[in-house]
Amino acid sequence: MSWKDLPKVELHLHLEGAAPPAFIRDLAKEKNADIGGIFDERGNYAYADFAEFLKVYEAATSVLTTPADYARLTRVVLEECAAHGVIYAETFLSPDFCGGGDVKAWWEYCAAMAEVAEGAEKDLGITLKGIITCIRHFGPEKARAPAECAAETAGDFITGFGMAGAETVGKPGDYAWAFDCAREAGLRLTCHAGEWGGAQMVRDTLDQLPGIERIGHGVGASQDGALMERLAREGITLEVCPGSNIALGVFRHWHDHPIEKLRENGVAVTVSTDDPPFFHTTMTREYKKLNEVFGWDEDDFRSLNEDAIAAAFCDEATREDIL
Ligand code: ADE
Ligand code: ZN
Repeated sequence: MSWKDLPKVELHLHLEGAAPPAFIRDLAKEKNADIGGIFDERGNYAYADFAEFLKVYEAATSVLTTPADYARLTRVVLEECAAHGVIYAETFLSPDFCGGGDVKAWWEYCAAMAEVAEGAEKDLGITLKGIITCIRHFGPEKARAPAECAAETAGDFITGFGMAGAETVGKPGDYAWAFDCAREAGLRLTCHAGEWGGAQMVRDTLDQLPGIERIGHGVGASQDGALMERLAREGITLEVCPGSNIALGVFRHWHDHPIEKLRENGVAVTVSTDDPPFFHTTMTREYKKLNEVFGWDEDDFRSLNEDAIAAAFCDEATREDIL
């Protein structure tokens, strides 16, 4: 059995964060754009910690300035996903980076990406859905425009809304307006929490933002038995990204990662790459590591993917097609 060919479902993937460094370097050259020293001597993204990671991420993203750039990026990312056996993916999209939150501009970006996704479904056999994100460290006021963009374009391609960025900024309830707006438009909800903010941030997110179905990362919940019980009882799925957590220093070693503990406590976990080139990972590598470190076998991955499909932000017809 080849780890690469094993069918995979990925629910937590930032489109800009999946941009290969060479793609960003070439685009910067084409546009004569100075993006500063964001690469190391081997050409990889260079950052020392999470704060620097966010800065490098935003600098790289700054060369993506047109719907055509996003269309090209979407194709490159989908080819890479498909090469690693991914048959269904959900990607985070940020109107802040696509037209600055202007609804009219966002429509064009969104249409460009949706068209590429449609093509890839036909020729690569991969289905892609988009989850619009606001960025927490941009503040609650700036979260309104992405939510309005999300509400406007909710449909077959845009199926969810969420929040990424530095979870140390403010509290989840500060962003309730944006989440209410998206929920009222029929979008499904997820939110990054408990990557850095521990169990309390996961609890606050669920308490302060009604209707959240999934938590991005959520690994902090493993410190709290009552919270794990609550996640299991309420059917909240965690979008766990082990390789990201190790690369960013949330945990030192793969052996320290709590994904197995969460699973043992009945929490629905899924596995994703988050920002693969930043963390030198792929879905194949994540699976291989989980096999090496925790002994997960084909049956474990089958059940992992069933949980992921059950938690996917797509309609029943799509879910049945993928299974
Ligand atoms: N945006 C991209 N990657 C992220 C991460 N790991 N945490 C928070 N925001 C992000
Ligand atoms: Zn993320």
